[in-house]
Order: sequence, then C-alpha cells, then structure tokens
Amino acid sequence: MKGVTVRRPGGLDRLEVGEQPEPGEPGPGEIRVRIHASSLNFHDYGVVSGKMPTEDGRIPMSDGAGVIEAIGDGVEEFAVGDAVVSTFFPYWLDGPARVGDFKTTPGDGVDGYAREQVVRPATWFTHAPKGYSHAEAATLTTAGLTAWRALVIDAGLKAGDTVLTLGTGGVSIFALQFAKAMGARVIATSSSDEKIERLQQLGADHTLNYKAEPEWGKRVKALTEGYGVDHVIEVGGPGTLPQSIEAVRIGGHIALIGVLTGRGGEVPTAKLMAKQARLQGLIVGSRIHQQEMIRGIEASGMRPILDRSFSLDEIADAFRHEEAGRHFGKICLEF
Ligand SMILES: NC(=O)c1ccc[n+]([C@@H]2O[C@H](COP(=O)([O-])OP(=O)(O)OC[C@H]3O[C@@H](n4cnc5c(N)ncnc54)[C@H](OP(=O)(O)O)[C@@H]3O)[C@@H](O)[C@H]2O)c1
Repeated sequence: MKGVTVRRPGGLDRLEVGEQPEPGEPGPGEIRVRIHASSLNFHDYGVVSGKMPTEDGRIPMSDGAGVIEAIGDGVEEFAVGDAVVSTFFPYWLDGPARVGDFKTTPGDGVDGYAREQVVRPATWFTHAPKGYSHAEAATLTTAGLTAWRALVIDAGLKAGDTVLTLGTGGVSIFALQFAKAMGARVIATSSSDEKIERLQQLGADHTLNYKAEPEWGKRVKALTEGYGVDHVIEVGGPGTLPQSIEAVRIGGHIALIGVLTGRGGEVPTAKLMAKQARLQGLIVGSRIHQQEMIRGIEASGMRPILDRSFSLDEIADAFRHEEAGRHFGKICLEF
C-alpha cells in the first residue's frame, strides 16, 4: 500500500511517498480501515516541516477518514462498510482532559493517516456524519473538534451569545459555523478583504480586517455597544491575546487555542484580571466530544468548508498551499 514518511530533520522536500507493508488482519477489538482522506492542520505542518521534532520515518497526518474493511473479534460498535473518522487522542475516551502532549497523537507521537490502510483499536475511530464525503469527515478530527470543544464544552455557548473568531483558518471557520448553527452572533476577522466577503456569505454578523485595524479589540467592543464579546476563539497567541482581552466582555471566555503568532509573550495580566475573564487553554477533545459533535452536525446539517484537495503523491504541494496562506477552509488529501 502507498504511504508517506517524514525524514528527519523534516522539510517538505524530504517527505517520501512510497510502498509500505500492508497492515494485515485486525486482532480482537481492532478494525482495518481503508483511509480515503485526511485534512491538513497547522500542527501537521509543524511535524512535516521539522518545526516540531518527530521520529525519522514517522507517518504524518492526524486526521483520517475512510471505510471499515475488516473487523476483529469483539467489535460491536462498527460493521464492515461503515464510514469512520479518526480521533486525535486515541486514549482519551471520556471525562475531563487528561492528556497534555502529542505522544499518543497519530501523525506526531505515533504513526498517522497519510497511508491507504491501518489496523487500529476500534476506539481510535468514531462513525463519520451520515452523508459526509470522506474529505468532509476528515476535517473533523482536529479543527472541527477544537472549535466544538471551545464553544460548546468549555464555553457553554448559548443562543444570543457573541463569538469572536480570528482569521480564516480551519478552527476559526468551524467556530463561525457552529456558532451560527447554534443561534449565536459572530464577529469574524481576516487579513484579506476577499476572505472577509466569504465570511459574510457564511453568516458572519460583523467582519473586520485585522491588518488594516491593528487595534481591533476596541472596534469589536464598539460593535457590541461597548459590552465586549462572550467568547473569543483565540488562535493567534501572544500577538493577538492583548486585543482579545480588550475585546472580551467582563466575565467572558477566551479559548486559548493557537500559536500562529508565536509560543510565548507578554500578557496584560492586570487587564485580564479587571475583565474577570476566563482564559482557558485546550487541546482538541475526547472521543465522546467527537461523538457529540457529530450528533450536532447531523442535527444541524452543517457541512465543512473545503478549500482544495490534493492526492497523496502531492502531499508536499498541499502543505506548500497551506504555507502560502491563501486558502479558505480546509485543505484535504484524498486517495
Ligand atoms: N489547541 C488545539 O487543540 C488546536 C487545534 C487545532 C489548531 N490549533 C492551533 O490553532 C491555530 C490555527 O490552526 P488552523 O489549523 O486553524 O490554521 P490554518 O488553517 O493554517 O489557519 C491559518 C489562518 O490563520 C489566520 N491568521 C494567521 N495569523 C493571524 C493573526 N495574527 N491573527 C489572526 N488570524 C491569523 C490567517 O487567516 P487570514 O488569512 O484570514 O488572515 C490564516 O489563513 C494554529 O496555531 C494551530 O496550531 C490548536
């Protein structure tokens, strides 16, 4: 079967696409999945580019979606032919967060889904939403679930709340879609006026260009009659957090998700204290969160925004496309 490996020290030119051994028959509690799609995340880019150290020979990609080809003894949740999607934390099934690193994450600490077949414990996958293509399903593992957890699990989003999303990456667009599907208002930002038009088409109530308005926090407050937003999807990190703190309402919630502007920096702590805001870090979510999200997706009919698909052979080009930053929505691999 065909698969991709990362060669240390990493780099898109060093990604190897080649033949790999077939995974064989599933043992007790396992399933064999023919993977048909994956989707690209900032994290996967870190692994393949060498910015995040990984083992030589690692098979990249955290997101995987496909069809069950064979089932081991004792698997009752799935049947051959079921469409499934992988989970980000294979051993975090339920309950509060208990994992804070990527040692068990496919495509980072263990081999991922840039390959045609895998045999894995059945609990490493969930059913995909009914009617979804494999590419659509593959967008859910990382970006979809992060947005869902930030808004629904951690923030307790309710109709009428106002959500601020930063930029038009995978997580932010999912957050916009979930927020609108649940009756919230959305203020969305982008560095591109062209992408801003697309945010409006997706239902954003207010939009602004964060490059043209570097002090966007004040503008966001003005858009909420000086009150501030209930929730911020904070994907930028140190370069955007001061503006997010400005934008959040007193007692609001900031989901600290991303590192797009760097991994550390100054935080206006006095302002955060005065805002009495909750700043909560999070990494993706559990298997049960994924199942709840998929139930919500099926009820709302929400479909992910797909930017463009590449074949497995074109994986380096797919990451170059992500690197260029012109995408809107999810970049996928389909094979
Ligand atoms: N904690 C978690 O569980 C988790 C899960 C998934 C992702 N993440 C993190 O979240 C971040 C986003 O991930 P992603 O996969 O959604 O990335 P992505 O799809 O690659 O998003 C890139 C987009 O982010 C926007 N952006 C870049 N710099 C920005 C800035 N200074 N302010 C506002 N927006 C900015 C740009 O939007 P415009 O082109 O519209 O300006 C860009 O197109 C990454 O740091 C990633 O590591 C964390």
